[in-house]
Amino acid sequence: MKFGYFDDTQREYVITRPDTPLPWINYLGCEEYFGLISNTAGGYSFYRDARLRRLTRYRYNNAPLDMGGRYLYLRDNTSGKYWSPSWMPTRLKLDEYECRHGQGYTIITSKLNGIKFSARYFVPLGESLEIWQVTLTNESASDADLSLFSAIEFCLWDANDDATNFQRNYSIGQVEIAPLALEGRGDGGEGLTVIYHKSEYRERRDHFAYFACSEKLAGFDTAREDFLGPYRGWDTPLAVEEGKSRNSEALGWQPIGSHHVKIQLKAGEQKQVIFLLGYQENPKDDKFDPPGSQVINKKTVKPIIAKYLKSENADKAFNTLRDYWTMLLGKIQVTTPDEHTNRMVNIWNAYQCMVTFNMSRSASYFESGIGRGMGFRDSTQDLLGFVHMIPERARERILDVSATQLKNGGAFHQYQPLTKRGNNDVGSGFNDDPLWLVLAVSAYLKETGDWSILDEQVQYQNEPGSESPLYEHLQCAIQYTLDRPGPHKLPLIGRADWNDCLNLNCFSDTPGQSFQTTTNKDGTVAESVFIAGLFVLACKEMAGIAEHCNDQAEVDKVQKSAAEMEKIVWAAGWDGEWFRRAYDDYGHALGSKENTEGRIFIEPQGICVMAGLGVDAAPSPDGQSGSGNAVKALDSVGEHLAFQHGIVVHQPAFTQYYLHLGEISSYPEGYKENASVFCHTNPWIMVAETVVGRGDKAFDYYTRINPSAREGISEVHKCEPYVYAQMIAGKDAVKPGEAKNSWLSGTAAWNYVAITQHILGIHPAFDGLEVKPVIPSGWNGFEVRRNFRGVRYEISVKREGPGNEVSLEVDGKSIKGTIIPLPKQGTESVKVKAIVR
Ligand code: GLC
Ligand code: GLC
Repeated sequence: MKFGYFDDTQREYVITRPDTPLPWINYLGCEEYFGLISNTAGGYSFYRDARLRRLTRYRYNNAPLDMGGRYLYLRDNTSGKYWSPSWMPTRLKLDEYECRHGQGYTIITSKLNGIKFSARYFVPLGESLEIWQVTLTNESASDADLSLFSAIEFCLWDANDDATNFQRNYSIGQVEIAPLALEGRGDGGEGLTVIYHKSEYRERRDHFAYFACSEKLAGFDTAREDFLGPYRGWDTPLAVEEGKSRNSEALGWQPIGSHHVKIQLKAGEQKQVIFLLGYQENPKDDKFDPPGSQVINKKTVKPIIAKYLKSENADKAFNTLRDYWTMLLGKIQVTTPDEHTNRMVNIWNAYQCMVTFNMSRSASYFESGIGRGMGFRDSTQDLLGFVHMIPERARERILDVSATQLKNGGAFHQYQPLTKRGNNDVGSGFNDDPLWLVLAVSAYLKETGDWSILDEQVQYQNEPGSESPLYEHLQCAIQYTLDRPGPHKLPLIGRADWNDCLNLNCFSDTPGQSFQTTTNKDGTVAESVFIAGLFVLACKEMAGIAEHCNDQAEVDKVQKSAAEMEKIVWAAGWDGEWFRRAYDDYGHALGSKENTEGRIFIEPQGICVMAGLGVDAAPSPDGQSGSGNAVKALDSVGEHLAFQHGIVVHQPAFTQYYLHLGEISSYPEGYKENASVFCHTNPWIMVAETVVGRGDKAFDYYTRINPSAREGISEVHKCEPYVYAQMIAGKDAVKPGEAKNSWLSGTAAWNYVAITQHILGIHPAFDGLEVKPVIPSGWNGFEVRRNFRGVRYEISVKREGPGNEVSLEVDGKSIKGTIIPLPKQGTESVKVKAIVR
């Protein structure tokens, strides 16, 4: 069952009824000011850091779900009837309803009592504010006497304190209500009133929020209790019911912003009203105007407000935003025989990669914005799907992340976006973390050819004086693994590897202890086969980097280390039919036929085959190459882990809590890390399938979790059909196929990489663009337009035989191999014909 449809021409998902199985959200802003907005206008806004600079309040796990957001109310002043044109919060049945989510904007349209409503929400590029552009049209035959109310609830900046420290924060809320003159409007501009939120501005904060409206107000409110009335909720505000604002001035309690505009609309008449919600900083020594007073200095903010309250400026900003996305998405556009592939690659998957790059795992409808900062492994992987869009920002991110790296090569697991410093709450010791940095840097170098990044002087642990070239950070990252061999010489796992919930050194029996930071074992026994595979992969990338830098010693070192690690994997990490997962603190294998639960895991199969283990056809003289084992491992995945909704993490699921395994066994069967389809891991298998040349299988797995391909079962899937979710409940779950944790997941980047670089096979390499598709047997071909290092590649692929043999013709000349050498300087475009046989 569907709740909407894709409008691919507009690059929008159109939701056609408000009662979607879960709130289906979108993101506003892609630079510093961000908002989350649901299909019924729920959500919240923040500046850079969802915890420390939260503009508006949001309560998770509320009933009804998704209560609180950017609310507007319409009131027919003749009948006294009022409603929410975005359906929530009054939930009055609307005659028409539609929500269009696009890239960085959302448009909600509805109709009731003959009044057509449309609101366009977006954040202009380069600004720290959001615009709500509202158009009202009287489509009835009679004149309408209307009231339009706005309503937001301010957050007292630190979202954590705001949600917990009531003894203090019920007394700190402060607002300012001040006139604004808008010149050149013909109406004198007098009577415009702006609501400023300035809690804590009197002391150490130098920022405030503002909420402005383009119209003369009939009234306003800033105290929630006055606007709503005692014991009332957002669905029945007394001020709206009575059609009369209280003109309240909040002090303490719950500051809100609400404007009341009276609008007379003759039959057929239309009117636009603009609301602005924004964030502004003042110089520390120029906070007040006049100096010495407690009044906000509004000199810098007034011109900004004045600018965007004009609809022509708002329109212009919106068009600029649209063009910006046309440019970004235009960097890779594909035409394949599959519409789900096309719309995900061309629009939604790329868009989600931008969002995950910006948010890491901080703020979504499942991530509260107060829990986690930016993850080291998360950010480095998010970059893989983003680097082609805005390489400069990827560069900056690499430098930020690597500056939190520890001297011993290890990494803080997380860092705060506002301070860019490692977050001590979770600490370090996740032994896979540093290796992802090598993959990220390699991807950046391949995309851009900007080798200068390796010379950048980067601190360790943000300590001045500790600077060393980024290149050395990569060496350190690799050394970190080499310094930590376990009893089988496999890498020690530390707190956990990619699977944060495989906590083999934790042994926690106390409720509430963090599985990630509790360590009851000395960590010298438990090992990870996954890290071994990741290590080999990272070494191969490092060898390529070092070779380019003419550092033969490093090339030799990492190649030798990788070869040794491969041997170790064949000796201790191979189970006969698949790769093992780990060794626990007792030295027992996990992910092995020896186990009754957790006999086979997905992660090592994906990563080891991606690293090339067991792929070579020719057996090595010492019998250690594991030749053919890649296919065996992938066949085992197909047999034991794959089902209609994707590939689950492991089987059998853990049916009880195991002290020596940790959080993974804390979840009920089929959920989260305990045998759900943890979507992040699925593209590793897709890539691995292309490595062994099986395009049909790779594409089949791709389709199983492709949100667009799952649109038709939205009542089962429940999450948004236009973005990936972190998990889909596994075969052991009560509701298999039910997704959770949409938006912020490494799934976005990895699926993007899997489909564009491995299945379609357009793969940036150090010295050129590689074209090496491994597509389904039923495809006749496809076309790709891709920008690569400033050159436009128009690639057309034709299938002429059943295999994966590729021959290339570049601008009419056939070339050897699959890598198109970099064209002469000044070349603008290159035409590529690829024949697959
Ligand atoms: C979450 C974490 C990610 C981890 C994964 C598996 O998505 O953000 O870092 O790898 O869970 O535990
Ligand atoms: C939870 C999540 C996991 C995440 C971990 C660390 O266990 O399930 O995905 O990585 O927390 O924050």
